[in-house]
Amino acid sequence: MKTYIKHDPWQIIEDAFRPEHNEFSESIFAIGNGRMGQRANFEEYFSGKTLQGSYLAGIYYPDKTRVGWWKNGYPEYFAKVINSFNWIGLDIRINGQRLDLAQANISSFERRLDMQRGILHRTFVASMPDGSKVRVEASRMYHLFASETASLQYRLQALTEDLHVEVSSILDAEVINRDSNYDEKFWEPITQGQHGANLFVCSRTKKTAFEVCAELETRVTADKKSVELNGVTSDTGYMAANYITTLGSLQTLCIEKRVAIVTSENHPKERLREIASAHLIALQSDDFEQLQKKQAAAWATIWAESDIEIFGDVAAQQAIRYNIFQLNQTYTGEDARLNIGPKGFTGEKYGGVTYWDTEAYCIPFYLATQSPHIARNLLLYRYQQLGKAIENAEKLGFSGGAALFPMVTINGEECHNEWEITFEEIHRNGAIAFAIYNYVRYTDDQEYIWTHGLDVLVAISRFWAQRVNWSAEKQRYVMLGVTGPNEYENNVNNNWYTNRIASWCLEYTLNCLQQCESKTPGTYTALLDKLKIDVEEREQWKHIIDNIYYPYDDKRKIYLQQDGFLDKELIPVQQLDPAQRPINQKWSWDRILRSCYIKQADVLQGFYFLEDQFDQDTLARHFEFYEPLTVHESSLSPCVHAILAAKLGKAAKAYEFYLRTSRLDLDDYNNDTEDGLHITSMAGTWMTIVEGFAGMRVSNGQLYLNPMLPPEWKGYKFRILFRGATLLITVSADAYTIENISDNPANISTPSDSFVLAAHSRREIAQVR
Ligand code: BGC
Repeated sequence: MKTYIKHDPWQIIEDAFRPEHNEFSESIFAIGNGRMGQRANFEEYFSGKTLQGSYLAGIYYPDKTRVGWWKNGYPEYFAKVINSFNWIGLDIRINGQRLDLAQANISSFERRLDMQRGILHRTFVASMPDGSKVRVEASRMYHLFASETASLQYRLQALTEDLHVEVSSILDAEVINRDSNYDEKFWEPITQGQHGANLFVCSRTKKTAFEVCAELETRVTADKKSVELNGVTSDTGYMAANYITTLGSLQTLCIEKRVAIVTSENHPKERLREIASAHLIALQSDDFEQLQKKQAAAWATIWAESDIEIFGDVAAQQAIRYNIFQLNQTYTGEDARLNIGPKGFTGEKYGGVTYWDTEAYCIPFYLATQSPHIARNLLLYRYQQLGKAIENAEKLGFSGGAALFPMVTINGEECHNEWEITFEEIHRNGAIAFAIYNYVRYTDDQEYIWTHGLDVLVAISRFWAQRVNWSAEKQRYVMLGVTGPNEYENNVNNNWYTNRIASWCLEYTLNCLQQCESKTPGTYTALLDKLKIDVEEREQWKHIIDNIYYPYDDKRKIYLQQDGFLDKELIPVQQLDPAQRPINQKWSWDRILRSCYIKQADVLQGFYFLEDQFDQDTLARHFEFYEPLTVHESSLSPCVHAILAAKLGKAAKAYEFYLRTSRLDLDDYNNDTEDGLHITSMAGTWMTIVEGFAGMRVSNGQLYLNPMLPPEWKGYKFRILFRGATLLITVSADAYTIENISDNPANISTPSDSFVLAAHSRREIAQVR
């Protein structure tokens, strides 16, 4: 763990230069705007530990698969959202010495991310080897108000006399990925040059042929007087505008950079240069202060819609805002071709973009904080990839329209290539079906099922029906050779969660067909015809539902994670030497696989999704058995446990998990934040408060609330969008209020009441758990 990030309700602050942890901080202070984003790399040249990373949504490279031993069915490539143009670079020489924070003597260093306004600040004082000294203040934004542009201001003040300063303002498309499988460069240059005083570079991705053009404007003043351009340096894919000046003591050199980066994903290739120029012209009349104001206004709108306030606990407050901030920086939901990558724009690891994380963890956040079309776009993303999911299943030997959605994808094709995950972690299909259910439950958009949902549900059901086999021995359907959500066990038989979610998918699909038949018979007949579903197929599904096998321990009265789970040595995590953790960094894979340790919610994931099917005692038994064996080494784990703990009234446990999920990156719980942030689990953090502490559910078309207050907090407040109504919920120690701040009524229920909350009215309920 690292606990040096200072606690503050709206700011993320690092108050000293820690070069050894620079890659961690580069992840923590990453910024973006849904279209593009960047790790918190320094503007100046830096010879220390750094992972240079700037990313553009939807721009990827299919990096040829690299494995030791090829297995049939492996995908040909791993789609990577690649490192793209570096526009922030400033190569600075002071009296001939290069400003490099790894070489200079650094003091008064501070990095500060202002989440309220969406601006990253950095200050430091550097003493150069010749005794000269400068103070730097840098600020940077990825504009939310104009998402194909970004800007920075870099102020360098001389603290000693007579500084000769040379600056190169760089636009560099010759970037590489650290995780390139064959040390290949993913970009090839198209054109570059000067456009008036601006620089531009256009490059194309190899194989995928995405074209990207960037235009850079640099404004330089010394002591408020304009510094003229002193030539341009150019190399393949690289342009730099050079400036030279001298500074007297306390004089300031101010460099402003503005960039427009446009891609062929969003514009015709032949117009990219023209559009990039136009974007910069549109910003021309704004000085940096005005740009900051626009950025603050755009963020104010987001905060007005999705802020959660926590009273009396600054660490918790900072953490939830950080999670909400990062989610909004990563995905704005307006483009159904995009999705939410587990690392967003903050690192290379994980490649691809879309995991089951989106459906299992992110949908609830978008459902409750944004207009329903955003969550619908996330469903449509999968709907549009259904054809590829069917091809993917065919590659593995399935037929008849069965679909296996990929574990990792960017364009519908599978790009994960570890057999135990690619071929076996098939439970992901279940989350995709569950997301449809969740969306319809929340929005009541039944029509989605008839127009899109059933195509996906039927294809998924066909997969499950072929993936199980009849065991003559057990006289039941079994599912062999799978990996459940717990990736610390592979190739197991009858993973309870997978069997259960498969059977649930079949039930839900049959249910939807039945509903369709009774509500819109015309659509139903057309659907049967289109999807070619006959009675026999549906009978087979029913037979599977009634006869699927669930491993169960009669003695403990618990479902078993898989057939062989009880053969393991069951030693609670608490008895592990802390020096042995995280086990995925300390133990061999062989030792992990044979151990009883669970990476993330597995059986309990099923209890979370299908909670209505289990009473409190059953939940408590399973929680007591599985949680002590769980190491939570997936970022997705603590949030589900927090919600279940809150449901069981275990306030202290729920709070512990809340801190773990919400400060997972800020405090680097799993010692892996340097690779990038855990964006998808941040939606889980939001769920921890809203579903966990506030007990929010949607049940029978009503918004159900049953809040508790963690003893560490004085209160909390959040906003929910529900079926046209906007509700403000404020929880304090002995009462909570629901305020309907919209023009539409809302159907609400609580453990003791059920009522319609009229538009612009409020109700106080004196009943906090
Ligand atoms: C988890 C998966 C998750 C992936 C991406 C892995 O560590 O085990 O469940 O989909 O990370 O977040």
